[in-house]
Amino acid sequence: MIQGMEIRHLLLVVAVLLSLVLQGQGGITSSYVRSEWPAVDIPLDHKVFKVPKGYNAPQQVHITQGDYDGKAVIISWVTPDEPGSSTVHYGAVQGEYDFVAKGTYSNYTFYKYKSGYTHHCLVSGLEYNTKYYYKIESGESSREFWFVTPPHVHPDASYKFGIIGDLGQTFNSLSTLEHYMRSGAQAVLFLGDLSYADRYQYNDVGVRWDTWGRFVEPSTAYQPWLWSAGNHEVDYMPYMGEVTPFKNYLERYTTPYLASKSSNPLWYSVRRASAHIIVLSSYSPFVKYTPQWRWLDEEFKRVDREKTPWLIVLMHSPIYNSNEAHFKEGESMRAAFEEWFVEYRVDVVFAGHVHAYERSYRVSNVRYNVSSGDRFPVPDTSAPVYITVGDGGNQEGLAGRFMEPQPDYSAFREASYGHSTLDIKNRTHAIYHWNRNDDGKKVATDEFVLYNQYWGKNIRRRKLKKHYIKSVVVDWIAS
Ligand SMILES: *[C@@H]1O[C@H](CO)[C@@H](O)[C@H](O)[C@H]1NC(C)=O
Ligand SMILES: *[C@@H]1O[C@H](CO)[C@@H](O)[C@H](O)[C@H]1NC(C)=O
Ligand SMILES: *[C@@H]1O[C@H](CO)[C@@H](O)[C@H](O)[C@H]1NC(C)=O
Ligand SMILES: [Fe+2]
Repeated sequence: MIQGMEIRHLLLVVAVLLSLVLQGQGGITSSYVRSEWPAVDIPLDHKVFKVPKGYNAPQQVHITQGDYDGKAVIISWVTPDEPGSSTVHYGAVQGEYDFVAKGTYSNYTFYKYKSGYTHHCLVSGLEYNTKYYYKIESGESSREFWFVTPPHVHPDASYKFGIIGDLGQTFNSLSTLEHYMRSGAQAVLFLGDLSYADRYQYNDVGVRWDTWGRFVEPSTAYQPWLWSAGNHEVDYMPYMGEVTPFKNYLERYTTPYLASKSSNPLWYSVRRASAHIIVLSSYSPFVKYTPQWRWLDEEFKRVDREKTPWLIVLMHSPIYNSNEAHFKEGESMRAAFEEWFVEYRVDVVFAGHVHAYERSYRVSNVRYNVSSGDRFPVPDTSAPVYITVGDGGNQEGLAGRFMEPQPDYSAFREASYGHSTLDIKNRTHAIYHWNRNDDGKKVATDEFVLYNQYWGKNIRRRKLKKHYIKSVVVDWIAS
């Protein structure tokens, strides 16, 4: 049931939208406000952080894609008491584990915190489109999970991705995670800033990396999360003698970077179903001639839109952001890479970092060359759509102040917690949704059909706007 307050909100938003339609203006700044949980972390003794029963039971289980094309997964977990075994038994029938894979483990310190034993085990040679059950070996404390492999790489393979950023470990984070888990999406594109453990000091940093691993396990043990790194992964803490960037993150979260010929786990790419997903690192060198720049130069050439029509880029710091928070922090990466995004007709660039939601029109700002040319973003049908989904719900709270007036490039923005889904139907069509957290109701928010940049027909900017506004108004009146 919709309550009185919310009806008033809806009517207000609809009225604003209608006035926008009538005045024929551009973007939408949604005034929707809902009550939220306080932006504080869930207490350590809460059940979401529960340690699994049994001596040395594997915990913080998470999987990610293990190769270029989706026939492998990397299974990772932590054993708290002793190294134990790095062995995974698996098979296509529950309880019948015909196959076995052996991984490796390591442990480390962070200040005086001593980590458990972090295991990473590559399981390869899998069949596509198959449900696998797996058991992480730990004697009487062994634990069992399952995952489903993607369809083989094919231009019309349908696949539903979830998109989550800046998650943290508050009750808002929990709400996002629970909503996401009901979305039916098959894998997560994670946009960086995982645990926010760096908001703590000394031994508590390691402790909060552990709690986060247990917090997300109900999803990460069953479907791959493709990781990208944010500023909260850097963990540069000279006051406690910790100066190796990304130390906690890289120990715990792996990526299949070698499979895409990358030299560093912080940037890599994978192909999954009909998508080619490129992951960049906002906090590693990326200017011309750096390893990341040279790798991306080569990787764009390897993209084959005949095989993978959907070209998706992930990064942490957004390039088109009209929020006061982190304003212009993406400018340096824009200067380095935007020309390629346009040249290679990237479909969509997802970023996090700003704790709000924002979507751009297809624009580019590549004509300015420090001597002449346009000095501002202009409509460009070859450009990607830029979407910021930094609204996972961490302890820093929402970024509620947007720059006014709303820039022409900004199509929709709202400071609420949520996640997105990209439901790829075939080589031409994908249905995109932004899903604001709400109390179990289906909430109409930002939704549109994304037409593929290589196979789809480009639609004109004005048309997209009109259609978009109409669909939002109709949905919200209906809900
Ligand atoms: C790793 O664990 C072993 C015990 O299994 C311990 O002796 C060693 O000090 C640990 N290493 C680090 C870096 O914490
Ligand atoms: C800069 O851009 C202008 C306008 O597109 C062009 O005429 C000029 O040749 C460019 N200059 C350089 C150095 O690329
Ligand atoms: C692609 O998917 C869209 C949306 O489901 C559908 O309307 C369209 O007919 C499909 N195209 C092909 C070639 O199957
Ligand atoms: Fe961030």
